[in-house]
Amino acid sequence: MIRVRTILLLGLIGLSFLAIQALKPDSIASAARADGSNRHEADAGRANYVGDGACDSCHKKQGLSYLHTSHHFTSQPPNKESVLGSFQQGSNVLAIVDPTTTAGPFLYFKMEAKNGHYYETAVTGWGTQEQTRTEPIDVVTGSGVRGATYLYWQGNQLFELPVSYWTDGHRWINSPGYEDGSADFSRPVNPGCLECHATYIRPLSQDPSTNRYDRDSLVTGISCERCHGPGAQHVARQKAGSGSASAGQAILNPANFSRDRQVDMCALCHNGIQREATAPAFSFEPGKRLSDYFHLLPTNSAEHPDVHGNQVGLLKRSRCYLSSPNMTCSTCHDVHAKERPAASYSAKCLTCHQWQSCGLSKTMGHSIANNCIDCHMPVEPTRVIVSETADHVVRATMRNHWIKIYPGTGKQ
Ligand code: HEC
Ligand code: HEC
Ligand code: HEC
Ligand code: HEC
Ligand code: HEC
Ligand code: HEC
Ligand code: HEC
Repeated sequence: MIRVRTILLLGLIGLSFLAIQALKPDSIASAARADGSNRHEADAGRANYVGDGACDSCHKKQGLSYLHTSHHFTSQPPNKESVLGSFQQGSNVLAIVDPTTTAGPFLYFKMEAKNGHYYETAVTGWGTQEQTRTEPIDVVTGSGVRGATYLYWQGNQLFELPVSYWTDGHRWINSPGYEDGSADFSRPVNPGCLECHATYIRPLSQDPSTNRYDRDSLVTGISCERCHGPGAQHVARQKAGSGSASAGQAILNPANFSRDRQVDMCALCHNGIQREATAPAFSFEPGKRLSDYFHLLPTNSAEHPDVHGNQVGLLKRSRCYLSSPNMTCSTCHDVHAKERPAASYSAKCLTCHQWQSCGLSKTMGHSIANNCIDCHMPVEPTRVIVSETADHVVRATMRNHWIKIYPGTGKQ
């Protein structure tokens, strides 16, 4: 068993050795940088977007608390606060096959910080022969609730780096979906990724699999205007004192959408990743029908959360949702503030249910009212393996948004 694994691993390392060579950046299409030239024309539609800073002065309540949310932090430039892994000597190495314990091919990754910049280096080789490849961390994705994955630029092309940070255990792991034993710097980052994890970036082509962008157009984090639409007119009206109810607010309030359109807005990013874009990235507007922008692909695992939680698909299966025409994500979540501990959401259940209507209330008494959540929305390991790193398997856990009776939760 071990032998088979080792041989497999050696094979993979051999491959990655070649891959590193093949991937040595030489004359990276630097000419393509010029694509930014007609940026202002292409981004003309963005002129009506003013950024979060423009909202805070009048909407302190939402504005200040929003700064602590994982939506706000879900993509960031790299800096001391955003790069969470350890760059200290001794804990900055991810050893896949340790050169000190093998005579054969080895592979490890080294994470280094120099003058405020951050780098990942793959070191692979055999004996004294060593090959390295170093790339910078240019963009951080993921707020770090679970972990973070890093991206780097090569000219106008955006790629994923092979090593990610995993919060559970405060450690480095192979990036999700990467083959253990490989040093792959070639995975392109397509617009769909940033459509969920950033406010905006302008792709240089309509092809949904492109990874070429106008670098300077990247706006990190998820801004107020992703959910409220462009705010320039609203701000201008309010500043001029003409934002009366009769004149209209010139800003979208999702509370006024139908239930389906409210949930569609969250589904833009929370219905899992099994889908095909049928319209350009970043063209969806809050209040519109999501199915005009995406075609959902069938999955065989819809009953359980994926690496990406699919909260929308699961909630929609719940009897609570099916029998309550007004239930939305906002019934429980206030996206303007940081998440609270899970059990505290029990109060939300009790806006529709009485604790006495739970079958267990007779045997367990009022104590069940403290935590409806863990029994009826249990945390489950995701089906999909997030990362396989030198024989350690990492799975993300997600809360199942299918609210129902789970077998086995009756026993204490
Ligand atoms: C100059 C002050 C001012 C600025 C700047 C401002 N707003 Fe408002 N906004 C108001 C006032 C006043 C109202 C109406 C009272 C209320 O609902 O708080 C309002 C209402 C709203 C509403 C509710 C609209 C409705 O129809 O119910 C939303 C949503 C909103 N603003 C979002 C934003 C966003 C997003 C920004 C930044 C792009 C922003 N506002 C910037 C003053 C401002
Ligand atoms: C533009 C994409 C996008 C939209 C739209 C969006 N979300 Fe999210 N949401 C994310 C991403 C990405 C994360 C993960 C953030 C992270 O930890 O990096 C997230 C995280 C969350 C979390 C977990 C927060 C935490 O602290 O762990 C909740 C709850 C949530 N979203 C609810 C909603 C609701 C409700 C809506 C609709 C009103 C919504 N989201 C709309 C992208 C989006
Ligand atoms: C359909 C929208 C969507 C796409 C596409 C998507 N993500 Fe996510 N991502 C999310 C959401 C939502 C979460 C929060 C976990 C959850 O509830 O599913 C998340 C979680 C994460 C996390 C963990 C964040 C944390 O704070 O713990 C990382 C890292 C991440 N995504 C990276 C990526 C990268 C890199 C890509 C593209 C290569 C990508 N995601 C594509 C929506 C998306
Ligand atoms: C992920 C989506 C999302 C983001 C990001 C977001 N909002 Fe909202 N906002 C909503 C939803 C949904 C509602 C309606 C909530 C409800 O049903 O009560 C709302 C309501 C509001 C309202 C009306 C409040 C009221 O009580 O009537 C204001 C004002 C507002 N948001 C301002 C902001 C500001 C300012 C930001 C950025 C700091 C922001 N929002 C970011 C989704 C979002
Ligand atoms: C907006 C109102 C509402 C909220 C909030 C709500 N529910 Fe429900 N729930 C309902 C309705 C309505 C039903 C269906 C009752 C029926 O058909 O008899 C239901 C059904 C259920 C069922 C039975 C499910 C089944 O498959 O048989 C359970 C269990 C449940 N809810 C638990 C919860 C828990 C736990 C929460 C909080 C996490 C919650 N509900 C929040 C309205 C709600
Ligand atoms: C009946 C209440 C309820 C409703 C409705 C609800 N959620 Fe949640 N959600 C929760 C609870 C409870 C948690 C766990 C919070 C925690 O662990 O701190 C959670 C967690 C999350 C998370 C964090 C991921 C995780 O697994 O912990 C995301 C993302 C999220 N919800 C998105 C949504 C979206 C999108 C909708 C609408 C489709 C929605 N939720 C509707 C109760 C609800
Ligand atoms: C220890 C786990 C546990 C806790 C805590 C718990 N439940 Fe339940 N709940 C169950 C089980 C198991 C059943 C099925 C019981 C049965 O069939 O006799 C159930 C049944 C229900 C039902 C369906 C009743 C019916 O006949 O259709 C509702 C509604 C419900 N629970 C709501 C709640 C609410 C609201 C809370 C929090 C106040 C809560 N539960 C707390 C495990 C739990």
